[in-house]
Amino acid sequence: MILTPPSQTPEPYTSSEQDYELINDAETLVASYMADNDTSHDMHHINRVRRMALRIAREHPANIDLLVVELGALFHDVVDHKYVMHDSDRTERLAALRGLMRNHGMSIDRSELVAKIVENTGYSIEKKLRNTNNWSQWHDSCLEYHCVQDADRLDAIGAMGIFRVSAYAAMAGEPLYSYNSKSISAIQHFHDKLLYLKETLKTPLGREVAEKRTRIMADFVAAAKEEYELTDFICAN
Ligand code: ADP
Ligand code: NI
Repeated sequence: MILTPPSQTPEPYTSSEQDYELINDAETLVASYMADNDTSHDMHHINRVRRMALRIAREHPANIDLLVVELGALFHDVVDHKYVMHDSDRTERLAALRGLMRNHGMSIDRSELVAKIVENTGYSIEKKLRNTNNWSQWHDSCLEYHCVQDADRLDAIGAMGIFRVSAYAAMAGEPLYSYNSKSISAIQHFHDKLLYLKETLKTPLGREVAEKRTRIMADFVAAAKEEYELTDFICAN
């Protein structure tokens, strides 16, 4: 098999030429927030999510507000609890996002929808809302929310997911592989969450791609087990 190196971005991610200035300012603000993050949650992650969210939205049979999707994707990790520890910083950042959208003339309805998406995207947030009976009709029906959420989850699985788990483990000082299933490690994260994440996707395209990406991860996890246990040392002949 001939493997070619990465090429240019395969497709553009702008939802609307008309909103170019708003999108450009949003991108600059987010890049400043993500600048110090490790590579599991950096601006490249944001841009992958942004492209996937727009692709999912464009291929969805329903009419979806692409600008809301693009801004939701751009902003989705700026108040992540793992990286922004203080409530006051999260409040300040949310206010800055709202200010930016309003200054560019976005309506209250649309800018508040973006803010709501940002506050609800994480897998851990969904789990908490469901466990506390706070999962609402909005969560079940908002398609713009589903596009952003599915895109974020697609970047957590498959080959990119493997990269990101390793990067996160390096940042957090976790071992890559440990035989102790009770301790935190990169490999444990596949078993605890990533191999099952596909069940939580909500759009038709997102679910289809998640199946493929989960198979890639399952093959990887099986190969890592073989290498760790030296079963690949047993010759076939
Ligand atoms: P969410 O907030 O939606 O649950 P996260 O931001 O926590 O998503 O997780 C995104 C990615 O960060 C995971 O898919 C994984 O790659 C990485 N990650 C998070 N927690 C861990 C962990 N304990 N060990 C390894 N990777 C992790
Ligand atoms: Ni994310």
